[in-house]
Amino acid sequence: MPVTTGMKGGGYYDANSREQRSAADSFLPWLEAAIADLPTPDASQSSWNVLDIGSSEGANAIYTMNRLVAALRQHSDLPVWALFDDLPTNDFNQLFLNLFPDHMPALNAPDVYTAAIGGSAFGRLVPPRSLHLATTFNAIGFFENRPTARLPHFVLAMQPNPAAPRDGVSVTPEELRPFQEQAHHDLCEFYKARAAELVPGGKLLVQVFGRNATQSTGHGICDVLSDALLDFVEADLLPQTFYEDFLFPAYYRCPEELAAPIEQVPELASAFRIDQVADIDAPVPFNAEFERTGDRKAWAESYTGFLRAFTEPVLAAALPVDLVEEQIVAKIYQRIEQLLADNPERYEFHFISIAALLTRL
Ligand SMILES: C[S@@+](CC[C@H](N)C(=O)[O-])C[C@H]1O[C@@H](n2cnc3c(N)ncnc32)[C@H](O)[C@@H]1O
Repeated sequence: MPVTTGMKGGGYYDANSREQRSAADSFLPWLEAAIADLPTPDASQSSWNVLDIGSSEGANAIYTMNRLVAALRQHSDLPVWALFDDLPTNDFNQLFLNLFPDHMPALNAPDVYTAAIGGSAFGRLVPPRSLHLATTFNAIGFFENRPTARLPHFVLAMQPNPAAPRDGVSVTPEELRPFQEQAHHDLCEFYKARAAELVPGGKLLVQVFGRNATQSTGHGICDVLSDALLDFVEADLLPQTFYEDFLFPAYYRCPEELAAPIEQVPELASAFRIDQVADIDAPVPFNAEFERTGDRKAWAESYTGFLRAFTEPVLAAALPVDLVEEQIVAKIYQRIEQLLADNPERYEFHFISIAALLTRL
């Protein structure tokens, strides 16, 4: 069954995703520089075709697309097809409102044409050999399907953060294995689809939330989510079975896992050259403000907004309907905000952004 991975719509994701933009920004210069190596268009090529996958409501995706169009125009004057994909459950109305604010195109270079596509990153989205550039930011960490494996003592397929221990919270290496295999399988499908869609010489920039040797983007956010849910269980406001069944359907990869399909699967090794792979501890705007002001309440509020934008639809879909009607979702986020304001050290947040730049052979 496909997972619920949608963002909180109606402009909420756009208003609470400066952190994702910062995490993607550091890797955009890779692609801007690589655009100079795109194959020179021949007489039959009528446009540059660019696809962003997992664009959500679009504020970040449109910003990125504008930068790529500017880089393409340094290379040639061809028209540009700017394509934005997300799951059919996405708030596409907001995406189109963002594409044409005040009836003016947000992609403001001349001869740029836009379209949106509903479909999964892990399947085919456009005809064969039709793309020159493909990008994805902060999206392919979500599983394609809801994992069938269970994780009764934590909310994320990851070793719990040693810096935020709690009795009863644990994950064994054996419990993690099926999730690692599922994430690897998803990524193989993603690369196979892009291999079919990109022209020879086309470029693929893949960026996603991940982990390095000591930090994970899942630390902090999933610790506070887990703590809030367990507090509700202990106060008899949620059944214990809810915590045992709940799983945030994402996987936080290390850079080696991002490159593994290309290195290990012969079909992919012959389809792509890996130009760059890296991880960074990306600047987090709400942490920078906290450092500047020391205002932990403001930090907790921004942190909660950031977390809520991508967790609320998942949480709301998993909660029993009668509890949702009792406003439990709002109460859980109030609890999260309180926990953050009271314990900033326990829930320290690092955005470990990982990326790979690939060329289609
Ligand atoms: C955290 S948002 C990232 C939005 C934007 N790219 C950014 O960096 O701000 C993740 C987006 O990925 C989308 N997504 C999740 N799974 C997907 C899939 N299998 N195919 C396409 N989009 C997916 C979600 O619907 C959501 O809009």
